[in-house]
Amino acid sequence: MDPVERLYLDYNATSPLSQSVLNWVKSGELLFANPASQHSSGKAARKLINESRAFIYSTFQQNEKDVNLVFHSGATEGIATFAYSFSEWARLTGKEVLICYSKLDHPAVTSLVEHYYGPHVKFLELQINQKLDYDHLANFAAIQDKKDNNPDLMILYHHLWVHNETGIVAPLEPLAEFKKIPDLYIHIDAVQAPGKIHKWTELKIADIFTFSAHKFGALKGIGFTFFSKKISFHPLIIGGGQQSGHRSGTENSLGIQTVALALADLKKVEIDKTIGLREKLEGFLIQELEDLGGIISILNPRLANNTIYFYLNDLSSDGALALFDLNGIMISAGSACSSGAAKSSAIMTHLGHKKEAKNGLRISFAYDLNEEQLLMIIRQLRVCFTKIRQYK
Ligand SMILES: Cc1ncc(COP(=O)(O)O)c(C=O)c1O
Repeated sequence: MDPVERLYLDYNATSPLSQSVLNWVKSGELLFANPASQHSSGKAARKLINESRAFIYSTFQQNEKDVNLVFHSGATEGIATFAYSFSEWARLTGKEVLICYSKLDHPAVTSLVEHYYGPHVKFLELQINQKLDYDHLANFAAIQDKKDNNPDLMILYHHLWVHNETGIVAPLEPLAEFKKIPDLYIHIDAVQAPGKIHKWTELKIADIFTFSAHKFGALKGIGFTFFSKKISFHPLIIGGGQQSGHRSGTENSLGIQTVALALADLKKVEIDKTIGLREKLEGFLIQELEDLGGIISILNPRLANNTIYFYLNDLSSDGALALFDLNGIMISAGSACSSGAAKSSAIMTHLGHKKEAKNGLRISFAYDLNEEQLLMIIRQLRVCFTKIRQYK
């Protein structure tokens, strides 16, 4: 029997190293010194960080005069940092802070609600409609009402730009209306945007943008956040005062270098090309799933170029993932816990698919997927669906 060609289609969980990062690792020229050290090796590492920072600022057209850039271990830390920072800012100024989130956010955000920051920190759940769009009118009214009752209220508003499970895009433009509310700061979870939507480098309207670099070809354990200098920042991680005190701890100079290398590769991606391939795959899935399940992503026309979220009526994602894997297709349940086991998807539950809530499956492919690979995916998926029909 021919060995099965294995296809990695789990880019939203993490991506392989980008070509430039891979070349750099293979070159072996990895500056190891502590960038805080004053000897020449330390200075070389510092220079590399400074060059990488300048490149990241220019990629996202951000101005160092107005906006800070802090590196951290990834978006989970970035998100927790700003929840803490705002709770401290409010506490020290004798105010209350309202953290707005949606139950369809990544657990890095939804788990904030379970944490007790103090009596001055409140939460507001944002409403999402059945097309999986934010209900901006209802959410604006709810926030305005809280502000009317407490004019000193500070607000930290979370917005998920591109949904990690469905690939549905929530544009930034409508947020301009929210910025009219005084003391409201917007934090964009931009983790799934790079390379997956048009204009992913245009960081508009909001005050804070958090990225995770292992999602776009850099090393694991490195992410970054741009945040407005108007914010009174209180660091979550304190210590030696590195990164102007924004995040203590020896700087991850190698990780930071890979952010710049991976971004340079990503800027070359032709988004339209992958959009076309995604549509072809979606067309195939619509036909195949007619008697087997359904596709969630098609509820909304605004989609990332690489993600399709679907479900099977009678097979849980745990079982389906094993079957797909045996047939060379490596995908994900979309909502997996840290052990990798499938849990009920908040998306499926929200849409009323209670029976199939543990059956969600996500395909998320490379930004440089080509026609030939797409045909291979379709061929192998067809084998999987035939087998699933036989078990029915
Ligand atoms: C939308 C979104 N936000 C936040 C995170 C957390 O990112 P990290 O792995 O860098 O902590 C992820 C990771 O899957 C994500 O997809």
